[in-house]
Amino acid sequence: MKSKKIVILTGAGISAESGIETFRAAGGLWENHRVEDVATPEGFAKDPELVHRFYNLRRAALKTVKPNAAHVALAKLEDGLKQNGGQLTLVTQNVDDLHERGGTKEVIHMHGILTSMLCGTCEHRWEYLEDASPHLSCPKCYVKNTSRPDIVWFGEMPYAMHVIEERLSDCDLFVSIGTSGAVYPAAGFVQMASSIGKATLELNLERSQGSHFFDESRLGAAGTLVPQWVDEVLKV
Ligand code: APR
Repeated sequence: MKSKKIVILTGAGISAESGIETFRAAGGLWENHRVEDVATPEGFAKDPELVHRFYNLRRAALKTVKPNAAHVALAKLEDGLKQNGGQLTLVTQNVDDLHERGGTKEVIHMHGILTSMLCGTCEHRWEYLEDASPHLSCPKCYVKNTSRPDIVWFGEMPYAMHVIEERLSDCDLFVSIGTSGAVYPAAGFVQMASSIGKATLELNLERSQGSHFFDESRLGAAGTLVPQWVDEVLKV
């Protein structure tokens, strides 16, 4: 096995074949809302009802979708690498839970997750699967009116950056799957990895914005490309 320690970054493209629309596709998730209104702390402060409604719809939609072949293949990769003394670090920008439902055990949700709520007062996080409203109280500090979706909004610091940077500096290979490379800091991981001599691979439907930074780009649907690539890695 050539690569034993692999860091993977996934984006909306890996969930597209499960039926979750990507962000930047025409008719994507932001279609009826300005990003500023539903995905910034300022938007939440201005209209918490609207923001909760927006994420309630997305949380409810999770019940109608299933992981696809790409999610399942990455779970197989996690097991396969572990059995060979290696390690998969799966970092996702996605706020859906399809990697977990596809079987991956350790997932870093750098942009948060729809199935969790965050207390704006004591920063407690808890699993939350139903519809939320601004009146929801925190189960730890009991303060009302400050609970918010556990989503990293524009202008906020993504989660677990120090862990991600550590894993990037310790890996053999960095792979980006289904992301347009438009949003930093995730879009900069390829430069971070290649500047310290790591091999880099992109699997995407089309060339991403940072495509030229990758050693190799394979273009096509994640549901096809990812299982093929995982078989290659586990066979060698
Ligand atoms: N297989 C592989 N790639 C695909 C597929 C597919 N079936 N369908 C679409 N793609 C590719 C698109 O070509 C595009 O390059 O996935 C990418 C999706 O890009 P975006 O919609 O920009 O999503 P993403 O990169 O995850 O967005 C990053 O931006 O809005 C913020 O916080 C939000 O996490 C999100 C971040």
